[in-house]
Amino acid sequence: MTDLLIHGGTVVTSTAQMEVDLAVDGGKIVWIGSNYAGDRPERVIDARGLLVLPGLIDPHVHFQLPFFGTVTRHDFFSGTVAAAFGGVTTVVDFAFQERGGTAMDAIQARRAEADGHACIDYSLHAVFTDVNHETPLQLEELVEAGIATWKVFMAYRREGVMVDDGGLFALLEAGIRLPCVGIVHAENAAIIELLVDRFLAAGKTDTRYHALSRPPLAEAEATGRAVRQAGAANCPLYVFHVSSADALAEIRTARNRGWPIYGETCPHYLCLDASLYDRPDGYNWCMSPPLRAQADRDALWRALADGALSVVSTDDAAFDAESKKRGEESFTRVPNGIPGVETRLSILYSEGVAKGRINVQRLVALTSTNPARLAGLYPQKGNIAVGADADLVLFNPSRQTTLSLENSHMLAGWHPYEGTRVMGVPVMTIAGGEVIVEAGEFKGKEGAGRFIRRRIDPEIKRGPVL
Ligand code: URP
Ligand code: ZN
Repeated sequence: MTDLLIHGGTVVTSTAQMEVDLAVDGGKIVWIGSNYAGDRPERVIDARGLLVLPGLIDPHVHFQLPFFGTVTRHDFFSGTVAAAFGGVTTVVDFAFQERGGTAMDAIQARRAEADGHACIDYSLHAVFTDVNHETPLQLEELVEAGIATWKVFMAYRREGVMVDDGGLFALLEAGIRLPCVGIVHAENAAIIELLVDRFLAAGKTDTRYHALSRPPLAEAEATGRAVRQAGAANCPLYVFHVSSADALAEIRTARNRGWPIYGETCPHYLCLDASLYDRPDGYNWCMSPPLRAQADRDALWRALADGALSVVSTDDAAFDAESKKRGEESFTRVPNGIPGVETRLSILYSEGVAKGRINVQRLVALTSTNPARLAGLYPQKGNIAVGADADLVLFNPSRQTTLSLENSHMLAGWHPYEGTRVMGVPVMTIAGGEVIVEAGEFKGKEGAGRFIRRRIDPEIKRGPVL
């Protein structure tokens, strides 16, 4: 018997869209076509009126992240459950190197937190915080172990995680010979610290000073610096959470020069405005980089459509309402980040596809295929093809819903899109051939998610191919 037959849906990949059926067996897609004549399926799923998409990949989540003296509320179980409700079938989180420790120690420690708990497949980016003469060897070991991506923070010096330009360039150079991709959080720490100190000295502690102390200049300058270094080293670089038109312009210029630079943005930078910081509870939306202006959002949407940006992730960092409330005291006390792992597909469909800004194939590219290729998960994931993992989401494009804490599976205790009406809802999630979300119910298992070893396609290094 074959496990599943998905019948009557419109299958969408990053390059095509057609009405075909899929057969799934042993966790893999085993057949694509019409008029199935194989072994009798144990279950036939009626997908008429639905889009059948490759399961979303979220290459940027922070589950149980200790930061700003608190910890994000999603752990590897609750975070992956919320992800599954949003049609996500793989997440990539982070392992932060301890000062004096190795990146591999951090990976092992983080795996101990995730293994046996994640309900969908997962992997980890290695975050370097302490670059030294041993780093090139550590990078080789990581790549060998299937950790094909490393990250550095160009900001957060006072929080103890920043790596300076020497460290960044050393990593980029070390990466030249290896199949790996570097990632940066690009903001200029010195400019931010100067502005923060200036505002605090003037008694300016309101939330709006969070955004004013992290201006587009700080993001664009660091982005320009990082992409120049990556271009010189010819090492692929993935710029996380691009929020401003100015930072985006640096990425465009680098890509026009043929450098292997890839940019990501997140739903909040596409949909939410910096005026939220003027609200009494505006501290909830403190994140870095901060929310920007309409002109920035327009530029980001254009870049998603014309290819200058390659990925939309969530940067899920579910700090709870209580920790966020510290913002009443000062913007410097708020933990940065918002929950989002569940809502990306509906928001992007609603704001992007339904409003004609991107088409549904581009949506698949941005949320599944491109992150899979950039993180080294493709073609096993991010793909609907015979032999690929049966990671799928069935999406109803004509059903509407209202996003709210009440119907959310994200655990921060507040919802960044409370009351927002969206068009399009994920109705079934299939991970490794198992139906894990159906009719609003979780049917997966804690610990069913596997740690995935990743390998970068050498093509990624040859220039801006995504
Ligand atoms: O504000 C953010 N983005 N918080 C999460 C950590 C990070 O900087 O990615
Ligand atoms: Zn992040």
